[in-house]
Amino acid sequence: MAGKFEPKEPVNLDPPKDDIITKEHLSKCDGTHEGYPIYVAIKGTVFDVTQKRDTYGPGGSYHIFSGKDASHGLGKSSLKPEDAHADYSKLDESGMETLNNWHTFFSKRYNIMGRLEGSSPVEADPPKPGEGSSENAS
Ligand code: HEM
Repeated sequence: MAGKFEPKEPVNLDPPKDDIITKEHLSKCDGTHEGYPIYVAIKGTVFDVTQKRDTYGPGGSYHIFSGKDASHGLGKSSLKPEDAHADYSKLDESGMETLNNWHTFFSKRYNIMGRLEGSSPVEADPPKPGEGSSENAS
């Protein structure tokens, strides 16, 4: 049974990396520095979204999320600059669910480059009832 948030076209992802990425480095990866990739971090997980420069680069609809951990804004469904920060502790239950859904959405589309310094690892999404963790589950 297909999980949630599957991409329309299958995406070949590399094995996730576990490198520690500094905030300073992440801030360079916002699409405005030549030679740097574009990264978006969610709950400390750093995703490489370089392939979607139109969306995440300068002038893109979601450029606000690039080069930083914008978990709070993603959970609030907010594009306001003041919401685009890493502290998601103030999100209510539905905001946390939205945020976790974005983490799943990005995990299925973008390579994981590592973890933002100072963040703790995100637990894998628990399987939903009826949706086993085995790839052979039907
Ligand atoms: C009028 C309001 C909005 C419209 C019409 C809209 C429309 C869209 C569309 C058409 C997509 C592409 C979906 C796909 O590729 O399957 C998308 C993706 C996305 N939207 Fe929105 N959106 C809106 C508001 C927001 C807001 C408020 C947020 C803030 C969290 C947001 C965050 C995102 C993100 C992160 C993606 C994923 C882009 C990607 O990596 O593919 N959107 N949106």
